[in-house]
Parts: sequence; C-alpha cells; structure tokens
Amino acid sequence: QAMEKMFTDLENEISNCNKCILHSSRKNSITGAGVVGADIMLIGEAPGATEDERGEPFVGRSGQLLMQMLADIGISREKNLYITNTLKCRPPENRNPKADETKACKGYLDRQIELHNPKIIILVGNYACKYFLGNTAAITKIHGTFIEHNGRILFPVFHPAAIMRTPSLKPLAIADFEKLYEYIN
Ligand code: URA
Repeated sequence: QAMEKMFTDLENEISNCNKCILHSSRKNSITGAGVVGADIMLIGEAPGATEDERGEPFVGRSGQLLMQMLADIGISREKNLYITNTLKCRPPENRNPKADETKACKGYLDRQIELHNPKIIILVGNYACKYFLGNTAAITKIHGTFIEHNGRILFPVFHPAAIMRTPSLKPLAIADFEKLYEYIN
C-alpha cells in the first residue's frame, strides 16, 4: 500500500514533468508498465511514436518483437516483469537522447529501481548499457552476459530495432534469452 502510493506519486510527477524540452512535444509521458515489485525489470532507451501515442511502453513494432522473445522464455509484463525506459518522453524523430534530457530524467529511473527493487535488470540496447556501465560498454561485446552492479544483475540484450535492421542478430538474441531462461529457472 505504501509502495502503491509511492508508485502513484511517481506516475503523477512524471505525467506533469517539464524538466526537459521533451515535455513540449510529447503526447504522453510513459512511466512504465507491468508488475509492481517484479524480480525482473527491463529498461529500454526511450518511447517511440506508437508508445507516445498510446501512453504505454514497448507496444510498437520493436516492442512487440522484444515482448514475443520474452514471452517465449516465460517472461511477460502481465506475470513477472516491469518495463520502463531511461527517458519517459519520446525524443522527436526518435533521435538519440541528449545528455541534459538523460540527466533530467535520471531521478525517475533511480526511484523506480529503488521502488521495484529488481534482482535482474535487462538492459535493452547500447544506450541503456552505456547509461549504467559508462561509455566504453559496447552491446556487441557484453550482450548475453550477467554483470554484477550495485547488488543487482544486469543483463544486456540487443535492441529489437537493431534485430529488425540486421536479421543475423536474431539467433544471437534468442541464444541470449535462452541463457536468461536457464539463469532464472
Ligand atoms: N519501445 C520502448 O518503449 N522503448 C524502446 O527502447 C524501444 C521500443
């Protein structure tokens, strides 16, 4: 109940947020979705056009591909997963997040991690990896590995948009998710 209140407060703050320029172009801010307090959290980059339109994370083409790969290993936002992004608002034309936007939004993600207290954080794509691990972290090297970080396990995976652009990544991505399945089961 205390947790639900913290969660609702956070959601209200995010929907009223104007800490960076992205608030002026958004249709919806997107706090996240899924099971509050789930052991697994997934962190992507930023909402895209479909997400901005619908106010829900990972519902566009990329999101559907990623959610299907997770469903194949028994993970879903209905059952055992909380999903969010480093940025809560869509960057125009899906450009990369800027440093001041990331900084403005960081407090929200920090609070979400504290609130949900996940054991495992799936990092989706290069941007989320760099956010946690610094600029030298490269997804091509660290995808599918379990990285201890501040008492949690980080698990980097390819961004679904990269998989759609480069289909040869798909078997690698599936192998990564199979490793995650082994780890949690
Ligand atoms: N949808 C999201 O919400 N985030 C991403 O990083 C990709 C698709």
